[in-house]
Amino acid sequence: MTAQTAIAPSGRRTRRFNLEKWGWMFMRASGVLLVILIFGHLFVNLMLGEGIHALDFAFIAGKFADPWWQWWDVIMLWLALIHGANGMRTIVNDYVTHPTARKALIWALGLAAGLLIVLGTLVVFTFDPCLGVTESSTLWDMCVANGSVGN
Ligand code: HEM
Repeated sequence: MTAQTAIAPSGRRTRRFNLEKWGWMFMRASGVLLVILIFGHLFVNLMLGEGIHALDFAFIAGKFADPWWQWWDVIMLWLALIHGANGMRTIVNDYVTHPTARKALIWALGLAAGLLIVLGTLVVFTFDPCLGVTESSTLWDMCVANGSVGN
C-alpha cells in the first residue's frame, strides 16, 4: 500500500491511503484482466465446438461443476462489479454536486455491488443442477445415477 504524505493540523507529517490514486490504478489493471476474462468467456461459450448452439442448462451446469470455470466466473463477476461500481463512483463524484445526494448514491452503489458480489459468489459455489429436478428433465438420469434424487 503506497501512502501519500500530508501535513496534519498538529504539523506532523502523516501517511494516508490515497483512494483516488489506487482507484485509478485498479481501473487500468482490472480493465486489462476484464478483456482476457470477458473475451475468453465469450469465445468459449459462443465459438468453441458447436458454439452458441450448445448453450443450454446442462452446458452451464457442466461449467459450474468445474473449479476452473467457477473461479473464472467469480473473478470476472468481482472485477466487473468493483470496476463498474468504482467507475460509477467517479461519474457521481464528477456530476452530483449536492453532498447528501452524492453520499447516498455512493452508498447505494457500494451496497448494490456488495450484495451482487455475495449473491453471485453463492450461486457459483453452491449451484446444484439436481435441485428440484423432475423426471421430465434431461438431467434426471444423471441426477439419479449420482444419487442426488430418486431411489
Ligand atoms: C472489456 C473490459 C474493460 C476495459 C478494458 C475497461 C477499461 C476501463 C478504463 C481504463 C476505465 C477508466 C477510464 C478513465 O479513468 O478515464 C474505465 C472506466 C469505467 N468502466 Fe470500464 N472497462 C471494461 C469493462 C467494464 C465493465 C464490464 C463495466 C461495467 C460493469 C465497466 C464500467 C466502467 C465505468 C462505469 C467506468 C467509468 C467511466 C468514466 O469514468 O467516465 N467497464 N473502464
